[in-house]
Amino acid sequence: MSIETMTKVPVHISMIMDGNGRWAKERGKERAYGHFEGVESVRACVESSLEYGVKYLSVFAFSEENWNRPEDEVVALMGLMVKAMAAEMESLNRNGVRFMVLGNRARLSYELNAEIDACMDMTAHNEALTLIVFLSYSGKWDILQAAKKMAVEMVEHPEKREEFENMGTDGFDRYLVTAGIPDPDLIVRTSGESRISNYLLWQSAYSEFLFVDTLWPDFRKEEFRKALESYAKRDRRYGKVK
Ligand code: IPE
Ligand code: IPE
Ligand code: MG
Repeated sequence: MSIETMTKVPVHISMIMDGNGRWAKERGKERAYGHFEGVESVRACVESSLEYGVKYLSVFAFSEENWNRPEDEVVALMGLMVKAMAAEMESLNRNGVRFMVLGNRARLSYELNAEIDACMDMTAHNEALTLIVFLSYSGKWDILQAAKKMAVEMVEHPEKREEFENMGTDGFDRYLVTAGIPDPDLIVRTSGESRISNYLLWQSAYSEFLFVDTLWPDFRKEEFRKALESYAKRDRRYGKVK
């Protein structure tokens, strides 16, 4: 399918970027080399998203569980985040990309948080594509922080009691860190693993899933196109009869 004939393009496509370590090991290199090459794949996906008119591209870059990895790998990954942001931001901004980081930012370093704030401020007005990096994120953490925020609001605003009692699932959405962002239409996981690893639990309720064997550093434009093709063939029924 060419860009012109791609009928159903997802509004929000999300990537569980897995397999960097195995990719590096296959080449007899350090795991960090795989993470480094993985940044190139993110760039390819950004370019493709702009070409196909995908409005939201999100990537799972570091989970809450990933803090349990050896310290040198965590340090290398965080250093790579700072470097990649500094290197890519001008070009992202030039191409109309709004950049966001979502997750438990309290666990990130001062330096990284400062870089994130600068990049988010610089690109806040852009509208062509929103690129979301999930960093120090987990689905259960997100739901819990949302519930805590809501509990505080309930205590502080007893007059809103009825509003809370009548609240539907859409009302709860606005307490999640993804408030205002449409749920992912398609979630792709690379490297042959078929699990969600505590990613967008609430938000993936009706997402389409695609599990591919390709390791993340090999996931470039051709793989992105194939993912869109797979999505275009899906029939989303949302529990209804069609
Ligand atoms: C994905 O690649 C990147 C992160 C989870 C940070 P991995 O580092 O998980 O690579 P594998 O799965 O060990 O090959
Ligand atoms: C999932 O990858 C998290 C990210 C891609 C950031 P992992 O490699 O951490 O997942 P598990 O441990 O294999 O489930
Ligand atoms: Mg992995």
